[in-house]
Amino acid sequence: MSQHHEVAGHVTTRSLRQMKVDGEKIASLTAYDASFARVLDEAGIDFILVGDSLGMVVQGHTTTIPVTMDEMVYHTRLVSRGIKRALLMADMPFMSYASGEACLRNAARLMKEGGAEMVKLEWGELEIDMVARLTECGIPVCAHLGLTPQAVHKFGGYRVQGREEAAARKMKEDALALEQAGADVLLLECVPTALAAEITAAAAVPVIGIGAGPQVDGQILVLYDILDIAPGKRTRFSKNYMVGADSIHVAIGNYVREVKTVSFPAAEHAFT
Ligand code: KIV
Repeated sequence: MSQHHEVAGHVTTRSLRQMKVDGEKIASLTAYDASFARVLDEAGIDFILVGDSLGMVVQGHTTTIPVTMDEMVYHTRLVSRGIKRALLMADMPFMSYASGEACLRNAARLMKEGGAEMVKLEWGELEIDMVARLTECGIPVCAHLGLTPQAVHKFGGYRVQGREEAAARKMKEDALALEQAGADVLLLECVPTALAAEITAAAAVPVIGIGAGPQVDGQILVLYDILDIAPGKRTRFSKNYMVGADSIHVAIGNYVREVKTVSFPAAEHAFT
């Protein structure tokens, strides 16, 4: 068992759900190593995601697709060593959950070898079935909908999802079906504010947004984006927290405070 499981006040699936009930916003960021994980943990981040975005911001690829299972396990293990309070979520990389057997085996690796407490899958036609199988095995799951970066080539680029009425209806139905199948958290990426608010109101589980406006239960961003060290142009929904901060600790603290007080995201970070 990882050390962080034994600390009093450690965030759990139950506490995330309670935060939704209490109306307390959930603040989350990605991390890929123990040192940053410790800084985030000490700043009061509620859950840390070892995102497959590491393929882009750590490894220098142009998509998340090349990231392997071994790499995800390695980075998850590093992050687990820096955490005391935050819940640890890890991404299942591209094609690691394409069959039931692979999905269970790979999720188990993230938990047993990496110390993850929840795994995240991106939406696809198979996802409801996979969420149900993981749930049957007692594995907590976050279901990622909207712009799912592993499907970038299918989408033909990184674009806002759910703008048309039929697509919005389908996303809401999928979100509720995923919750029904056992998802503990829903994550919406690049979704119009009104649709994200509707899904959040309809779901009993916490809904976390990235580019989904302020009316969700919490926010997540890519750490390297908010520190302004990610390659390329910063995405519209992110914010450079190094502006006006004299250290990384202050920048992360400001992000947590702005999420908790709903000062972030502002209208300029959201989509209609
Ligand atoms: O991989 C990642 O960092 C993610 C976030 C963008 C939510 O999935």
